Amino acid sequence: MITQPAGGMVRGKIGPGLILKDTDMKFFIDTADIGEIEDLAATGLVDGVTTNPSLVAKTGRDFKDTIRQICRIVDGPVSAEVAATDADGMIEEGRLLAAIADNVAVKVPLTWDGLKACRSLSQAGTMVNVTLCFSATQALLAAKAGATFISPFIGRLDDIGLDGMELIQEIRIIYDNYEDLGTEILAASIRSPNHVKLSAMAGADVATVPPSVLKGLVKHPLTDKGLDAFLSDWAKTGQSIL
Ligand code: G3P
Repeated sequence: MITQPAGGMVRGKIGPGLILKDTDMKFFIDTADIGEIEDLAATGLVDGVTTNPSLVAKTGRDFKDTIRQICRIVDGPVSAEVAATDADGMIEEGRLLAAIADNVAVKVPLTWDGLKACRSLSQAGTMVNVTLCFSATQALLAAKAGATFISPFIGRLDDIGLDGMELIQEIRIIYDNYEDLGTEILAASIRSPNHVKLSAMAGADVATVPPSVLKGLVKHPLTDKGLDAFLSDWAKTGQSIL
């Protein structure tokens, strides 16, 4: 059970009864599939995109061309992950990826080399998404390295019998204790609408959601049933609104 530390900052609490709410929860699409991104971007509800080497490999397309095209479809941050594992290599690749478009966020893994690359790239003004985060201490290091986003992987922790949502809660508490940590919590490895709901309740800034899960957020059988009933009863009136 996660409890607020005694005397610690409660998120956004600026005084008795005064709660400062965040702007909103951002929805990123977790895919490199151009068609899926185009379809969902048309809803106006897409704030960004995250890709990773596995998602890119699934497309069978050129990586940099794919990122370039995604950056034209979506104005928000588009995560493109480096392949190097040494800091110098990550920095060199990160600079090339960042040059593709202004809204590229360079993704680096949560390793010491990734943190060094994050520090260098973020100090140069590049957005950095530190990925493969599985502990709150990792998330604290990423924030200190200047990460724009931290990507805790909820589903993969659940897969091994741990509580992925508890990690989101822990990071939220830690980040809210220190006002200089400007890193946004980007809930990742989301497998269900319930993950989205619980991430929002825990105060994640962003949820990166597979297209199938995002489409599922709107579905409820009682909504469908109720709409059918309304339309059936409306038809009986014989009226037209236009
Ligand atoms: O953005 C990270 C995400 O793509 C990982 O999801 O389902 O492979 O754990 P998953």
